[in-house]
Amino acid sequence: MVNIKLLKGNALELLKKIEDKSVNLIFADPPYNLSGENYLTCKSGKIAVCDKGLWDQIENIYEFNSKWVQECVRVLKDDGTIWISGTLHNHPSIGVILKKLNLWVINDIIWFKNNAPPLMQKNRFVPSTELIWVASKTKKYYFNYEIAKKLNNGKQMRNLWEIPAERHKTPHPTEKPEKLLERIILIGSKEEDTVLDPFMGSGTTGVVAKRYNRNFIGIEIDDNYFEIAEKRIASVRTEGILLKLLEKIEVGNNIQLQFQSGLTTK
Ligand SMILES: C[S@@+](CC[C@H](N)C(=O)[O-])C[C@H]1O[C@@H](n2cnc3c(N)ncnc32)[C@H](O)[C@@H]1O
Repeated sequence: MVNIKLLKGNALELLKKIEDKSVNLIFADPPYNLSGENYLTCKSGKIAVCDKGLWDQIENIYEFNSKWVQECVRVLKDDGTIWISGTLHNHPSIGVILKKLNLWVINDIIWFKNNAPPLMQKNRFVPSTELIWVASKTKKYYFNYEIAKKLNNGKQMRNLWEIPAERHKTPHPTEKPEKLLERIILIGSKEEDTVLDPFMGSGTTGVVAKRYNRNFIGIEIDDNYFEIAEKRIASVRTEGILLKLLEKIEVGNNIQLQFQSGLTTK
């Protein structure tokens, strides 16, 4: 039975309640820091100020990111990985913090949305990517190379992920596609591992974690989004899909390709 723990409140406080080295995989989709007068967007064909909500307006983004990333590092197991998504509005600070905390930066994944909406202004390129940092505490981390290959039609997976933005299932303005989380969770964790999302929003990470038989801890500050996530995750059925995929993986020679701490062949 998967264990789902949803915590309502501020991640900066609630992360402190999680035990040291108890989490295998962290996916964090923190505030983008792009709402406000400086950023324009297109709404119903008209230029509008970008407004994702008050949660997206942070005075000192470096300080904020430092605090929660440090807590995440404390709760992450030695062979765990942390995946942090976002755009250029918060990524420089995340990169600096990962280096400052002596983390091993494994990859920067570029998530390319080939259906990103057009831009009204004619003074820049159309934003159609997000960056996902992948980092670990040591060089011996779990990474399921074979599953990554399977998910990529038998070819080595590159760090450019073309995944279209999907019609949202909830009213949350920045709901992520489940397909994105499927890759991250299947490649970065095993069944019965624990996945943490400190900014769970509409609960996408929890939905995918539960579906693939992972325990999940989710934190969300907004009452409304918390309720949406709670209901959404409760309605998901756990499936043993990874086990089925594993049955088809040739073990033996291939096992060396999976990092030392990697795959258990159930
Ligand atoms: C970018 S969204 C996450 C979207 C999510 N990945 C999804 O698929 O729905 C960030 C979320 O973090 C929440 N949030 C912002 N500041 C927070 C904080 N200090 N503690 C916990 N949650 C916070 C916001 O309410 C928002 O729902």
